[in-house]
Amino acid sequence: MKRTTGQDRSITRHWRPATQAVRGGTVRSEFGETSEAIFLTSGFCYDDAEEAAARFRGERPGMTYSRLQNPTVQMLEERLCLMEGAEACRVQATGMAAMSAALMSTLSAGDHLIAAKAAFGSCRVLVDTILPRFGVETTVVDGADVDAWAKARRPNTKAVFFETPANPTLDVIDIRAVCDLAHDAGALAIVDNAFASPVLQRPMEFGADVVAYSATKHMDGQGRVLAGAVLGPEQWMNDTLLAFTRHTGPNLSPFNAWVVLKSLETLDLRVRRACENALAVARFLEPRLPRLLYPGLASHPQHALAMRQMSAGGTILALFVDGGRAQAHALLDALELIDISNNLGDSRSLMTHPASTTHASVSAEAREAMGITEGMLRLSIGLEDPADLIDDLDRALGAAGL
Ligand SMILES: Cc1ncc(COP(=O)(O)O)c(C=O)c1O
Repeated sequence: MKRTTGQDRSITRHWRPATQAVRGGTVRSEFGETSEAIFLTSGFCYDDAEEAAARFRGERPGMTYSRLQNPTVQMLEERLCLMEGAEACRVQATGMAAMSAALMSTLSAGDHLIAAKAAFGSCRVLVDTILPRFGVETTVVDGADVDAWAKARRPNTKAVFFETPANPTLDVIDIRAVCDLAHDAGALAIVDNAFASPVLQRPMEFGADVVAYSATKHMDGQGRVLAGAVLGPEQWMNDTLLAFTRHTGPNLSPFNAWVVLKSLETLDLRVRRACENALAVARFLEPRLPRLLYPGLASHPQHALAMRQMSAGGTILALFVDGGRAQAHALLDALELIDISNNLGDSRSLMTHPASTTHASVSAEAREAMGITEGMLRLSIGLEDPADLIDDLDRALGAAGL
């Protein structure tokens, strides 16, 4: 294996993110293939016993076992590093594998974590239930309230964790302010950037130490594979994350890594087009609903902040109806084009009722505190013609009495 001319990181790191998404990290085999090869291998062979021993001692380069290294997986990790402007990346089997590995590798019994209350359901379960079982103290705060982060800090605060925009309430958090507060306390700032994707927002530019993804969302973005990624400083990656994951094994398969690699080639195009569609749909929906949240509209409470941190309003909208679950379900059931599905960031537009799906495992009180009402729906906008999406919504709103 050799890097073909022009693939050296000293050259590629100067390319812009959209170029990185197509070419970053490519390593060609001796066949000079155009498209990245899939190395579906669990292990590697050695020329002699001493070569194996030397690799295990870390004295010679080379791969040993696909739980630790794999050529296809490494191409994806290198590409994501270059896109994000990060020192190091480790991809994981799912977004939740990425979030749990980032948090569990960093935190030990007796440490304290501050997290934003608005978060994907499983992230809240991790913070509220799983981490405390291992002796980690956790506090959830209103992520938009910078003072609340400041007041929640304790001498043993080791990390802060938040998503922005958040799933599904679209709370926007001031990345710079919260990361500065974390650093003042000597804590690590971990940001889940799944909703924005690296196309719209690069949290490290605002001070995040670690950025984690559900790559299932925009990165694959075509409903095929689950994947996750953790990006951060090289030393933290080696000493903290890898020290955990090399023994717990939440690895991404080389095949799924290859699917995500191919998807990244169109990520910029897909996300930008979906954002344009989402803005058109948001403008149509706003006057028809009691309440609509979309970071790209001036009516969003943190619109100005969202526009400072993100290059567009995103692909996700939160719709609110007054008639509770019955009316929300009626709207879903009347859709003909948009699918009822709890995935997001997909080329197909998808709508879900968070209270009964993605956030059903969160307590009713926590849901209420987050602003997830029974009349709330989350709409992920895809790549269809926006006029067809608007026609479908127009008819479904009418059928639901809106
Ligand atoms: C913000 C956010 N983080 C993490 C996840 C978990 O990702 P995965 O489903 O790939 O495990 C999701 C999934 O919906 C999400 O929306």
